[in-house]
Amino acid sequence: MNRKFNKNGKKHLEIIHDEKSNQRPILIIGGTGKTGKRVAQRLVSREIPVRIGSRTGKPPFDWNDKDSWKPMLKGIGAVYITYYPDLAAPGAAHTVGEFAKLAVQNGVKRLVLLSGRGEEEAKRSEKALQDSGADWTILRSSWFAQNFSEHFLLGPVLSGTIALPVGDVKEPFIDVDDIADVAVAALTDIKHIGEIYELSGPRSLTFSEVTKEIAKATGREIQYIKISIESFITELRQQGMPEEIVSLMVELFTEVLDGRNSHVVDGVQRALGRAPRSFSDYVKSAATTGIWDAHK
Ligand SMILES: NC(=O)c1ccc[n+]([C@@H]2O[C@H](COP(=O)([O-])OP(=O)(O)OC[C@H]3O[C@@H](n4cnc5c(N)ncnc54)[C@H](OP(=O)(O)O)[C@@H]3O)[C@@H](O)[C@H]2O)c1
Repeated sequence: MNRKFNKNGKKHLEIIHDEKSNQRPILIIGGTGKTGKRVAQRLVSREIPVRIGSRTGKPPFDWNDKDSWKPMLKGIGAVYITYYPDLAAPGAAHTVGEFAKLAVQNGVKRLVLLSGRGEEEAKRSEKALQDSGADWTILRSSWFAQNFSEHFLLGPVLSGTIALPVGDVKEPFIDVDDIADVAVAALTDIKHIGEIYELSGPRSLTFSEVTKEIAKATGREIQYIKISIESFITELRQQGMPEEIVSLMVELFTEVLDGRNSHVVDGVQRALGRAPRSFSDYVKSAATTGIWDAHK
């Protein structure tokens, strides 16, 4: 009997399609980055084949080189898309839309996009994904907790002074392990198609409160200072940051971090049926890796 034509025919067909597509590799754009590498580890541990899309991958994938896109899509079943440097960067929505259309043309319908909360520019990329004809899922994320241990705020933590142009605005920092769990669920289970998951941690903290938590866990003196946006720009330029990134950082700190994202959201619970990890748990586990010990 051909079970495709039993009385639950339509649903059964969808599941067959899903199982088939999941046997093909999952392409992870930004597969060496903070969320991408964790998504890759989780899929590999479930014996799902992965292909890493990044400039250092084999073959290389570069957002700025359209010729590098198509070879990456060959034989792929689904794609996790993280755009770099940021979905708020000029031209990001056009590029993400072009990539999504190319993926669909090449038989890859399942696309999961990492987006940012409260960013108008990021919404344009989301729309481009939705208009591409893909079976899409959008992960609209809060600030990553790991920015303090694996990204641009690690240096300030190690130096003992975090200086940013933000005062009492709270942010519900999310552990990127939670984002990776949601991404893997979305890439492997059709029930997440068409969902927009707003992702945050379970509690909102100011940068001053974050600094105190990290200082307590590490036993080090770390101070938080609110600086002017002008001093911030000067500091970024002195570090040799490209002007494009300086503009993005200014937009982030003047527009996105204005309190619009301070409230906690339920995307992790909705997608996974469990609560997100707390910032305190993140701090404890990051401290045990020794990442914050270098200047002790
Ligand atoms: N950080 C946050 O708090 C936060 C919050 C919400 C949303 N997001 C979003 O997350 C996304 C990732 O940002 P992130 O800062 O966290 O970076 P990330 O994912 O940790 O690292 C960047 C990744 O992209 C790759 N990459 C860099 N330039 C590339 C290029 N031109 N073409 C192809 N791949 C490239 C890098 O690998 P190679 O160097 O090997 O190319 C690396 O795998 C952004 O779209 C951002 O808007 C971030």
